[in-house]
Amino acid sequence: MNQGLRDALRPLRELPKMIESIEGLDAAAGTMKKLASPKLGPGTALNETLGGADLGHPIHPLLTDVAIGAWTSAVMLDFVGGKRGRKAADRLIAIGLASAGPTVLTGLNDWITLQGAEQRLGVAHAGANAAATALYGLSWVSRKRGRRLRGKLLALAATGVASGGAYLGGHLAYKRGIGVDHTAFMALPSEWVEVAGDGDLTEGSPICADVKGTKVMVVRDHGSVYALADVCSHEGGPLHEGKIEAGCVVCPWHASKFKLSDGSPVGGPSAYPQPTLDVRTVGGKIQVRKT
Ligand code: FES
Repeated sequence: MNQGLRDALRPLRELPKMIESIEGLDAAAGTMKKLASPKLGPGTALNETLGGADLGHPIHPLLTDVAIGAWTSAVMLDFVGGKRGRKAADRLIAIGLASAGPTVLTGLNDWITLQGAEQRLGVAHAGANAAATALYGLSWVSRKRGRRLRGKLLALAATGVASGGAYLGGHLAYKRGIGVDHTAFMALPSEWVEVAGDGDLTEGSPICADVKGTKVMVVRDHGSVYALADVCSHEGGPLHEGKIEAGCVVCPWHASKFKLSDGSPVGGPSAYPQPTLDVRTVGGKIQVRKT
């Protein structure tokens, strides 16, 4: 471990904590949510499409790679590409700007369900990236007007700001688990475990059972009994508090909908399937185990 480097990077490491404590960001978050909710809020068609269920992964990280990759490459060409690299650098700046719209949209979609500290971090992440995009835009205008040095310096400054935004985005994903499958590290038993008496389960009323330390939702629907991990793969909502409709469970937090039969996401913002368990009834007792 390099202690000198660690000390030098301390302000960066402490930045997220500082941002999380800024209450003033809540007002900005409230305005952003008010404007975006009618189109992107839970239950809207766009929220579902942009959630990433079709891809099996959130879409936002893929798009950020396009923008950041294009802009970073442009800045490299600016400084080591010589005269021959000028046209390519300008085009890369334009490609980054063109990809900014969809990137912002998917990011906003992922952010709209967040609360508290994560919500504040998301506002700061968006603010840094908006500032970086504006600087790249000014850089592009300067290039078109023949003010090359100014354009290069603006792009360099934009890269610094975008790196700060990327750091906060990384913190949200890796430290706070936003966009991560909340069932990823769930341990389910491979041997049969009793969860309820057959008579305890009422049609359409899920229960939550503790299966060797893991919460499992068990429900009877149209006579069949199903068991799914109770912690929603989206952001950890308690599925047993959700509604059962049309062979699915609807998460009470942001309306992700999972098929009871195989856990696949068929609606709402979750990009990930919900783990299911095998179910059997022995001697009037319902038992479950890892599928
Ligand atoms: S926690 Fe968001 S849909 Fe379940």
